[in-house]
Amino acid sequence: MVNEPNSLPFDSVMNPGLGKYISLYNEAIENPEKFYGDIAQILDWYKRWDKVLDDSKSPYFRWYVNGKLNLSYNAVDRHIQENRRNKAAYIYVNEKGVEKIVTYQGLFKRVNAFSQALKDLGIGKGDRIAIYMPMIIEEIVAMLSAARIGAVFTLVFSGFGAEALADRINDSGAKIVITADGGFRRGKVIPLKKTVDSALEMTKSVESVIVVNHVGNEINMVEGRDYWYHHIVGEKSYVEPERMDSNDPLFILYTSGTTGKPKGVIHGNGGYGVWVANTLKWTFDPQENDRWWCAADIGWITGHSYIVFAPLILGLTSILYEGSLDYPFPDQMWRLVSYYGVNILYTSPTAIRALMKYGDAYPRNHDLSSLKTLGTVGEPINPKTWEWYYKVIGNSKCPIVDTYWQTETGGIIISPSIGIGYGPLKPGSATFPLPGIDPVITDDSGNKVDSGQKGYLTIRKPWPGLMLGLNNQDEKYRTSYFEKIKGFYFTGDYAIRDKDGFYWLLGRSDEVLKVSGHRIGTIEIEDALLSTGIVAEAGVFGKPHQVKGESIVAFVVLKSDANVDSPAEALKKGVRDNFGSLMTPDEIHIVKSLPKTRSGKIMRRIIKAVYLNQISGDVSTLESEASVTEIREAIEKFRKDLGGVGD
Ligand code: WTA
Repeated sequence: MVNEPNSLPFDSVMNPGLGKYISLYNEAIENPEKFYGDIAQILDWYKRWDKVLDDSKSPYFRWYVNGKLNLSYNAVDRHIQENRRNKAAYIYVNEKGVEKIVTYQGLFKRVNAFSQALKDLGIGKGDRIAIYMPMIIEEIVAMLSAARIGAVFTLVFSGFGAEALADRINDSGAKIVITADGGFRRGKVIPLKKTVDSALEMTKSVESVIVVNHVGNEINMVEGRDYWYHHIVGEKSYVEPERMDSNDPLFILYTSGTTGKPKGVIHGNGGYGVWVANTLKWTFDPQENDRWWCAADIGWITGHSYIVFAPLILGLTSILYEGSLDYPFPDQMWRLVSYYGVNILYTSPTAIRALMKYGDAYPRNHDLSSLKTLGTVGEPINPKTWEWYYKVIGNSKCPIVDTYWQTETGGIIISPSIGIGYGPLKPGSATFPLPGIDPVITDDSGNKVDSGQKGYLTIRKPWPGLMLGLNNQDEKYRTSYFEKIKGFYFTGDYAIRDKDGFYWLLGRSDEVLKVSGHRIGTIEIEDALLSTGIVAEAGVFGKPHQVKGESIVAFVVLKSDANVDSPAEALKKGVRDNFGSLMTPDEIHIVKSLPKTRSGKIMRRIIKAVYLNQISGDVSTLESEASVTEIREAIEKFRKDLGGVGD
């Protein structure tokens, strides 16, 4: 049964190297007050907490109760009082080779100046700010300034289109949008301000827009609403940081789920700050003079936690790269590693697979000897990719840190931990839970499964990085995460714990796709297709893809009055224009009907199984709401309707 104590995860891999990990892991279970108190010292607090955890209102866990702090102070101010004043916080570089170095002192100046500008526009504690920007210093300045004055920011990935941006502005109730005239991507300019203008036609809450002059393209400025960043930012040198409660919200980040619109995951100040900083230290063990490159986009949780908050709290030097990792040349990434002497590199399996495709000569032409540790995030890494990363990039001397976590978990939860002693690695396994993380793999009824058996990954106890809740969706917070397996946090992932205690993540158990490491709900893509106005029904699923992990396939039934030439192309364009290329299916098949249950639910799994020829003898697992006969009939009918599609 689930309630029996979880045996420690490393029982049969007792390795001397695991010593500190084991003692920390034990301490978190046996003496949480001490463990969580100690790890919170990584931050400076204005006022110490009364209690590390209040779990009396489970599943609303509150960490470092009544503690007061400010994360912008922790990320910036305290370093300039020490010897890091002239240290580079960021080395920004873009695909054109433009380089900009911002020291901690420079960041302090910029954050204070921008905080004042926000205040002058009437933004204060608790107000919501939307940020839709390229990967530039001003994006980080905007996040830190919001944190400084206590405003709650919501970053929207700059690859999303106007509708997706408008949805997030509306749900968060943002009063202001911070953007740029555009961003650079593969030699093109992405017209961000234009997208903001379209999004604002669908929203009401926004009073002002701040625009960074970055690419220098022509844009439309609305008098009285739009302000150039450089016009409103002065040199005012100090804005007192707000004394935030540990459990005040810091940001809302929208992520995909199984139903409806994306969910706004809320993270707070104290627990989140403690968790991201400690997990970076534990897993990657960065040293004072290391150069850290988390090659993700700030628009996702990986960027929030490991480009912005954790490395700044630790006072590290980060590379901030705006552009594509294989542009203008296939060896762009290796060139940058070599040129900047990157010591720790953290990226996605998709990026590695894409670069691997170009062959070994590209990385071998560069001096990658500065690398000490290599990390991956966001999706399972297949052993072949793991080995290539290990041998060709790491020259068989850098451990691979395969980090498993989610937007909701705030930071890494299962991963090798170089900083506290790590045992053997197995390619494709994220190895062991970090101290404080108590995973249980269960069956549908919540019973713990045996080692080697596949089940749902759940987490029994809360940890400081766990989200505070969902914006406007309290009910869903409880039902999606804490009721599937009563009382445990439900990750939505399948996993196996092997006989040696290693965890293997096996992908999502729900209707969430991972396309190039990006998380997208099938329902969001279906909604995007329906919103084009010419689609009557849509069924979307993910098809295994060698580089991207999964690619999006859609089957649609057009409305009877839809009258368009090349409907598949028109649909792709429509979805791309409104939602961005992330949401655009690679394949769209137009069919006459889709298999449905009696209650009218589209049977996505059947579409997928028929299309990919994956029908096995046991069809009952394909659909829970229909009988086996109904499923068989649906399969037969769909096979006929399909005709030659996909052949
Ligand atoms: C998947 C990204 C296997 C998983 C930080 C999870 C992984 C989802 C790994 C969260 C990994 C993340 N191995 N799968 N190391 N890391 N995932 O919210 O399915 O964008 O539920 O957070 O990514 O995606 P999200």
